Amino acid sequence: MEIQYFQNLSSTQLFLLEKIRSGELSNEVLIWTEHQTAGIGSRGNEWIGEKGNLFFSFSKKISSEIPKQSLSLYFALLFKKTLQDLGSKLFLKWPNDFYLQKKFGGVIANISKDFVIVGIGINRKEVESFEKLDLEIENLEILEHFAENLKELPNWAELFEDFKLDFEKSRKFSINSKNSKISLEDAILNFDGSVTVENCKYFR
Ligand code: BTN
Repeated sequence: MEIQYFQNLSSTQLFLLEKIRSGELSNEVLIWTEHQTAGIGSRGNEWIGEKGNLFFSFSKKISSEIPKQSLSLYFALLFKKTLQDLGSKLFLKWPNDFYLQKKFGGVIANISKDFVIVGIGINRKEVESFEKLDLEIENLEILEHFAENLKELPNWAELFEDFKLDFEKSRKFSINSKNSKISLEDAILNFDGSVTVENCKYFR
């Protein structure tokens, strides 16, 4: 997969989505920057990142094997595996937050044409209530390792099996649903990546 660096971009995610939408891009590519000025996060939030952090998005042909609503979970798990192989002690807080003691990164995914566009933001600098990645490795090196792992995608069942243990660490957290908080303490993790709490199914 080609890796393209930009000195700054408003949002790697919106940039790539627009390139795919307009037909200017029709291949798999990863774009990254350390200076993103108007990033977007999950649930319509902003993703504010200080200069020097890692911001990237990539396009990947959709595989029908991966549950559509769990595409962000799938790629979060794949990126987590890359960071663990490099020595990080992170875990994935269901469904898309990279955690050490605190959150230090997150993932979003959008579908456009037959591509999934995945955006990942990782703190490399410690700011206020956030932590930073526990690795002293250049961003490009991390991305090159990840691009290797993107070449031949593991199947969903394999990644999901690995996640079951990690999910136990998510039980002390809650998710926001409409106006209430739903505790994950007694949640059932389903094979499609969703959770069931009191007979309601949530994908995030
Ligand atoms: C979350 O809300 O936890 C997910 C945030 C994902 C942010 C990344 S940073 C790179 C890419 N470009 C964006 O505008 N957003 C994603």
